Amino acid sequence: MTTHPPPMALLAELTHRCPLQCPYCSNPLELLKANAERDTDFWKAVMDEAAALGVLQIHFSGGEPTLRRDLPELVAHASKVGLYTNLITSAVLLDEAKLRILAEAGLDHVQVSIQGADAQSADRIAAYEGAHAKKLEVARLVPQLGMALTLNAVVHRQNLNRLDEIINLAVELGAGRLEVAHVQYHGWALANRAALIPDEAALARADAIVAERREALRGQLVIDYVLPDLHADLPKTCMDGWGSRFINIAPDGRVLPCHAADSIPGMSFERAGERELGAIWDASDAFQRFRGTEWMQEPCRSCDRRDVDFGGCRCQALALVGDATATDPVCHRSPHHARIREAALAEAAAPPPDFRYRRP
Ligand code: SF4
Ligand code: FES
Repeated sequence: MTTHPPPMALLAELTHRCPLQCPYCSNPLELLKANAERDTDFWKAVMDEAAALGVLQIHFSGGEPTLRRDLPELVAHASKVGLYTNLITSAVLLDEAKLRILAEAGLDHVQVSIQGADAQSADRIAAYEGAHAKKLEVARLVPQLGMALTLNAVVHRQNLNRLDEIINLAVELGAGRLEVAHVQYHGWALANRAALIPDEAALARADAIVAERREALRGQLVIDYVLPDLHADLPKTCMDGWGSRFINIAPDGRVLPCHAADSIPGMSFERAGERELGAIWDASDAFQRFRGTEWMQEPCRSCDRRDVDFGGCRCQALALVGDATATDPVCHRSPHHARIREAALAEAAAPPPDFRYRRP
């Protein structure tokens, strides 16, 4: 029994290794090497604890989780302990035989990321020749092998003009869900903001396309669409609230409230296996730090939305304002909102510079 309601989902970051070099990579700036990764028995013990704690879903993620040779064994174990299993993958290292093994191990759901609507531009964004064709080949097989498919398209100024075609692709591949995810501008993506941020006209066109296609595809394809932060006036409820529904485990076994939490200076993270997962969730400094509303400064402290968005994203507040306890500057009440928004819009109005790729 935990004092706080148990987490709903566990993000198992099996590795930081990845064959792609996306300019909006959401992994930490300091990547862990393969020799820091935890072994099969570690992850199995984590899953046992998570299931006992009340976790319902496990997301196998990375980096690229299919680089782990023990992935089928981990999926089988998750399935055995009753977790709903989702694989978050770029798909470039998969083929029919590997996918079949994962399906037979009990994999329920696959989320394939795509970088665009056509091979030439998508492969340029991923800096991986042949990636797009491979992704389509694998994605098409997912429903054929009895698993649910979500397509995840990270969108920005260099692919947003092909949004209609991206939606067509999701339909054609048999996806049940399409996530149209605007880039989150912290971590590596912040260094590429000028190359990625769309202007307001492009954004308005995308909003209209999503509204129209959602209606037309009702009952066939669910389209998740979240406004890009730098064009919004209210922040997202990041992670559904810190320490509220999600628990992340990094490749080296550290337990984090969100995948970017180790960018926040002065925080320490306990390791799974060294203390019960439920105790880490309930009482560790990392999970308590921004849980609820007690930690807030003004204007959040006295705002009537403080229990709705919890002040937005801590990692974004740190990246853009230099203070993880500040109001997320996406919020119009933040004293930094206007300055940051103007800077972002000026970048969107200028020609895009070259990408700074995420070289391994
Ligand atoms: Fe949310 Fe804080 Fe803005 Fe209020 S002031 S809307 S709590 S971010
Ligand atoms: Fe860390 Fe939003 S990504 S709190």
